[in-house]
Amino acid sequence: MKSFSETYLKKLHIGSITAGSNVLMAPLAGYTCYPFRMMCRSLGAGLAFTEMVSANGLKYNDKATAKLLYTTDAETPKAVQLLGSVPSAFEAACKGRYTEAYDIVDINMGCPVPNIVKSGEGCALTQDLPLASKIIEACKRSGKTVTVKFRPGMNRSRIVVTEFARMCEDSGADMITVHGRTRNMMYDGEPVYEYIAAAKQAVSIPVIANGGIHSDEDAVRMMEQTGADGVMIARYGLEDPLIFVRLTGKSTDASKLSLILEQSELAESCFDETAAMDYVRKIASYFMKKLPGTKTCKQEMFRCGSMTELRRILARIFGETEK
Ligand SMILES: Cc1cc2nc3c(=O)[nH]c(=O)nc-3n(C[C@H](O)[C@H](O)[C@H](O)COP(=O)(O)O)c2cc1C
Repeated sequence: MKSFSETYLKKLHIGSITAGSNVLMAPLAGYTCYPFRMMCRSLGAGLAFTEMVSANGLKYNDKATAKLLYTTDAETPKAVQLLGSVPSAFEAACKGRYTEAYDIVDINMGCPVPNIVKSGEGCALTQDLPLASKIIEACKRSGKTVTVKFRPGMNRSRIVVTEFARMCEDSGADMITVHGRTRNMMYDGEPVYEYIAAAKQAVSIPVIANGGIHSDEDAVRMMEQTGADGVMIARYGLEDPLIFVRLTGKSTDASKLSLILEQSELAESCFDETAAMDYVRKIASYFMKKLPGTKTCKQEMFRCGSMTELRRILARIFGETEK
């Protein structure tokens, strides 16, 4: 089989911004905080998105939001994802101080969660193209680069992928990401390559393919079958972030142990100890997902009371598996 890095790897031009590679890390609520994004970027990801943040919620001066949007100049270019359904709220959010540092605003038009869809946000926007268009135009008025992440439709009998992709381009979007599952598939089942291919054929802005990439081979197949301009890794990036190294051919001697220890230090530098430990435990659990016999290790990890102790446990667990 072809290798991704030899066949498909390229820089990605998104409006006036150039991302170093066309292998991107998806927004993942609860995970893609600053330390995680920095790790993915250092391993070769061209961009890593913040988790979705409510456009409306950015009106309130709230600590939780500040934590979600924490970034530094070491992260360049920076991409924030917004969720909502009111164009004026998006415009205000894009022009407001919380997103000031961010170069790219990604609009979430794919979230399938019932409460979100009921409030007309996320995937519900694939049923209202005029409103989706107004949201994109509102974001563009901020002068930022604007991208849209969406699903092909609510279910297989309501596929709107072609017209939705065209609407995004006509409204000024600089790139689109298509998650190849319909809303009723939620996060299960094979993504449908043809839907992503249809979007690629419909527009001339870059199209990124997302869904079900769990190996280097899946990434190659995704590119072959869809003709997309790049791939977006999501859940598999939590399990094995070294996939970015393999897909981009970046040279590194990073191991899961060195990565998790680096993550613990970075998390401590930007969160308080409790939040940093919660984050490191979550990521370490994903890193161990396919390792046999890790149940007691996980229990130990969740019982321990300080970052120093947590690091000692992690060094033992990952040190042993990497011998
Ligand atoms: C825990 C979790 C959180 C997610 N959070 C977001 C989010 O904040 N914004 C978004 O656009 N998609 C979100 N997604 C969807 C992913 O970005 C991605 O589209 C989806 O998982 C499909 O890719 P995969 O099959 O490779 O995981 C989330 C998915 C999961 C499982």
